[in-house]
Amino acid sequence: MDLNILVLPGDGIGAEVTREAVKVLEHVAAKWKHCLAISEGLLGGIAIHRTGTPFPEETARLAADADATLMGAVGLPEFDNAPPEKRPEKGLLGIRQALGVYANLRPVRAYASQVESSPLKNHLVEGTDMIIVRELTGGIYYGTPRGITGSGAEERAVNTMTYTRPEIERVTRMAFHLARARRKKVTSVDKSNVLENSQLWRRVVVEIAKEFPDVQLDHLLVDNCAMQLVLNPKRFDIVLTENMFGDILSDEGAVLAGSIGMLPSASIGDRRPSGAWVGLYEPVHGSAPDIAGQNKANPLGAIGSVGAMLEYSFGLKEEASAVDAAIEAVLASGRLTADLRPSGAPATTEQVGSAVCAAIG
Ligand code: IPM
Ligand code: MN
Repeated sequence: MDLNILVLPGDGIGAEVTREAVKVLEHVAAKWKHCLAISEGLLGGIAIHRTGTPFPEETARLAADADATLMGAVGLPEFDNAPPEKRPEKGLLGIRQALGVYANLRPVRAYASQVESSPLKNHLVEGTDMIIVRELTGGIYYGTPRGITGSGAEERAVNTMTYTRPEIERVTRMAFHLARARRKKVTSVDKSNVLENSQLWRRVVVEIAKEFPDVQLDHLLVDNCAMQLVLNPKRFDIVLTENMFGDILSDEGAVLAGSIGMLPSASIGDRRPSGAWVGLYEPVHGSAPDIAGQNKANPLGAIGSVGAMLEYSFGLKEEASAVDAAIEAVLASGRLTADLRPSGAPATTEQVGSAVCAAIG
């Protein structure tokens, strides 16, 4: 199969974790005889430095031509006070919107070998296995009007949370399809006791659920969901929610997996004429500028994102399972970066990448 991939290392640790992820991708391509073509582009702070904008047109073109895009991380402290258009994060929001990747899948699994690295009690965490399906191209992240106006006591900031029915329908169908291949349970998360947005969300989810009578649906308010995630994480199979709630809940989910450095994500849109599903793959973690360039960052989130790419964009289930199994083997081996190995000598980013390749065989 032809695998035509765009890599956007981005900022901070993005470069070093994507390097390891690409190494794993090359290893898989060689082993299963796929024809891999990799191009590289600029996104985020590095793109602002080189071109003046966080999402250059050249990157948009490269992403439109690629079958799938692998992203590292964006964000640099020097842009903390920059205007909205000159922030690295704007680049990420731009590419998500340009690719139309409306469903962000964030699997959260408590690997048996890692239960000790979660601060929660082992019996609560053990066996956790869920996917947070976060709506990614709508809601308050994109709604208008937005902005800060006025000055002094008149200064005022506005953001708008909007959802249309089709935006809710398509991500809901994606969640239910995923549930069918798993434990057949969807928990939709909203704030329908307060927000009209959430009232429409819940109504549309209930309607779409009728197309999937074999899948069980329940609803949680987002505040209660935040609590249930740490009280009883095993109750969740698919968690379906809007953009900002999903952003917040998925960082909480990271605690269950032991480290945010391990969490992969897949953002999926519609199918291309080539048959590949449009996809943007990125670890859930940020750019961690404090440890960037030190060969310390955990590359497993980025490597897991390559596994997700093989599965979701190309339907290469055997290759994807091999990557997942290799991650699990490396976790069990204890050759891990410091975030997962609080004592003893940690492995470097590069050593973890090589260990995953070796485990794939
Ligand atoms: C994430 C990140 C992004 C988001 C930021 C960097 C814009 O936190 O992918 O979770 O909020 O979506
Ligand atoms: Mn986030």
